[in-house]
Amino acid sequence: MGLVTITRESLVDGRPLSEERARAWCAQLEAGDILYFPETPIAIPNDDLAFLLGQQQTDSSLHKNIAYKPIIDKLSGVDTKTADAAAVSRLQSIMRKYSQTVVKFLTEFLSPYHANWKLDYASFRPQEEQGRDLSLRRRNDLLHTDAFPTRPTHGARILRFFNNIHPTRTRDWVVGDPFAKMVHEFAPKEIAPEPDSAGSRAMKSLGRAVGLGAAIPSLKRSPYDDFMMRFHNFLKENPRFQSESPKYPWNFPAGSSWMVYTDTVPHAVLAGQYALEQTFLVSPEALVAPETSPLKVLEGIAGAPLV
Ligand SMILES: [Fe+2]
Repeated sequence: MGLVTITRESLVDGRPLSEERARAWCAQLEAGDILYFPETPIAIPNDDLAFLLGQQQTDSSLHKNIAYKPIIDKLSGVDTKTADAAAVSRLQSIMRKYSQTVVKFLTEFLSPYHANWKLDYASFRPQEEQGRDLSLRRRNDLLHTDAFPTRPTHGARILRFFNNIHPTRTRDWVVGDPFAKMVHEFAPKEIAPEPDSAGSRAMKSLGRAVGLGAAIPSLKRSPYDDFMMRFHNFLKENPRFQSESPKYPWNFPAGSSWMVYTDTVPHAVLAGQYALEQTFLVSPEALVAPETSPLKVLEGIAGAPLV
């Protein structure tokens, strides 16, 4: 597990990218590496950057955590009652363009994936990460693996692409040991996966009881999702894990990009301001080394299918 640096020259020289090269990058991601671009391959027009960097932490309501949902072309996290309508519309168009540019780049760069990924949310993160006042489970500065409370993936992997758009400052991360090692070392019996656990059954009957089960499939977590969510919470709430597990710092410079499977690479962001990010859910069929996926690791422990 480490950082794989991809320079602009290597991208230009390698055009068109071979299928073999793309598979090797997928394999490195799946093994827990971070693919790092010292110079981002994502072109963001200067006036778009200036607009995003102009979103200061003042009285503007545009500075919350802002999500963009590309499938329905919608922004959330912006208080449209108080924010200036023209600014909201500008932000939406910048996010739309950012999302499309990342998709276009990765469609070729990670060609084995694009037929089998689901485009998830993009986000704009204008707040200073150091010293944010968030509840424990929402804190970004505690080492954790990602799981989405309202968007279960049923075994699909969470792949995230980031841009540090701050003009001068680094975005400071730490990452931890690979998932398979961590699960064995830190997951005690009470959070070990159980096929069709009581929690998962309760979740399903709750969904049915309130008439949501069929209408909102996203509420139906598989035992896999149930475990991944509990594991996220467990890591953040576990002082022994936070203090004793190995941590490797990576400071991503201004103007760089990186991507990583955040569902298995434990990560925390300690400092930095202004980032853009696009998430992809990569389905198990697309993986080049499915046997190393968290689903297979957990099914190996549970001895039963988890989705
Ligand atoms: Fe995270």
